[in-house]
Amino acid sequence: MKKALAAAAVVFSAVLVYCPPSHAVDTYAAGDAASGISTSRHNLGGTGLFTRAGNTTEICVYCHTPHHSNTLSNIKPLWNRQTEASLATYTAYGTTVAGTIINNTDLGSTTLACLSCHDGLTTFDNLVNAPGKNGVVENGTDRGWTFFTLDVVASDFMTSTRLNIGVSLSNDHPISVPYSDKVAGLRPTNTIINDIDLTTGLATSAFAYDNGNLNKNLWAVKGYISSTAQISDLLRETNGSMRVECSSCHDPHFNNKSWNEVDNTYTADNVTDLDVESNGLFLRRVGGNTGSGVCRTCHNK
Ligand code: HEC
Ligand code: HEC
Ligand code: HEC
Ligand code: HEC
Repeated sequence: MKKALAAAAVVFSAVLVYCPPSHAVDTYAAGDAASGISTSRHNLGGTGLFTRAGNTTEICVYCHTPHHSNTLSNIKPLWNRQTEASLATYTAYGTTVAGTIINNTDLGSTTLACLSCHDGLTTFDNLVNAPGKNGVVENGTDRGWTFFTLDVVASDFMTSTRLNIGVSLSNDHPISVPYSDKVAGLRPTNTIINDIDLTTGLATSAFAYDNGNLNKNLWAVKGYISSTAQISDLLRETNGSMRVECSSCHDPHFNNKSWNEVDNTYTADNVTDLDVESNGLFLRRVGGNTGSGVCRTCHNK
């Protein structure tokens, strides 16, 4: 049975013709949907172009379900994956230079959501409500699916050292950290992101660089590219504080094709032609982290 499904997956990939979309910074406009998950590395279904299983063509199911979502965790929205039984599995950042303390109990919903694949512990097909009659299992169970990268059987959990964030968040940018504009040169939360001039102090050429990348600080917020969003829109609430979570900087649905700079690094480790373009690392900022635009949007450094 598994073999037949695997063969089906191969047929699927054969009929798909991949045309890399040509997006530059200036082809993303305010109001456009922050879309493209189907051609991104976050489509693990049979029609995906990267790591995928032939057992379903559904895309959202690896993360969301319309019914019977995970109630054993506080993870939102409509979370369909197994989560670690205890927050003690993780090590939070600890104390920042400014003395802000982050404990494990502060770890926020969307951060735990990303970690349910990117901590390298849970298999990609560990689902609560599997497609069709495959059943609901409280807090999920491994569905025994086989994953492929093109025609080659691939691991079904995060093995790449680069993509495996791991269980310790002490060596990552502070995550689930409350945002205060009294520390770390952080801008007020009501700053309109698009109004921040990232070219100040840079060479005049920075103004026109990459179709005005630094000049045009547009971020994906609430599913759309926005020219009116504020920094507060990037923050998520846990334990009564507005915090920086994984989804402050990344939108897992946004196949951001505008970070040309990072594409060059994808050819080096490429195993297939499909690998030559990144997903802009799902960064929310149009133009990605060019000129450290992601960092300087929050930090006035
Ligand atoms: C790889 C995991 C993953 C997949 C696959 C995924 N999502 Fe999400 N989704 C998330 C996470 C995490 C959040 C919370 C993000 C945040 O805090 O901004 C979210 C939030 C959302 C939201 C609310 C916030 C927003 O951005 O609009 C909607 C609507 C949504 N997802 C729809 C979908 C649909 C429809 C699909 C399938 C086409 C899908 N998602 C596939 C992880 C995923
Ligand atoms: C259902 C499992 C799953 C969840 C949940 C998930 N991811 Fe991923 N993610 C993957 C897989 C699989 C890849 C591609 C791995 C590969 O290329 O081998 C990936 C790739 C990525 C990449 C690299 C893309 C690139 O261009 O190389 C980033 C960045 C990323 N994920 C961030 C996130 C963030 C942030 C979240 C939460 C908002 C999240 N992911 C949630 C499975 C997941
Ligand atoms: C403060 C912003 C920020 C936060 C918060 C953040 N990231 Fe990232 N992330 C980035 C940037 C910027 C990059 C691109 C780094 C590069 O390659 O230059 C990145 C890259 C990545 C990558 C690819 C790794 C690499 O070096 O190529 C993964 C996977 C990822 N992030 C997942 C996550 C997960 C999971 C979380 C939450 C635990 C998270 N990120 C939180 C900004 C952030
Ligand atoms: C969404 C807003 C946001 C973005 C984007 C952001 N940061 Fe931060 N950063 C914060 C917050 C909040 C803190 C915690 C400050 C505190 O309380 O000490 C922080 C802290 C830091 C610290 C100090 C950590 C410590 O132990 O004191 C460094 C360094 C840092 N960020 C670098 C970066 C870099 C580099 C980037 C870009 C990859 C970035 N930040 C992007 C919000 C952000």
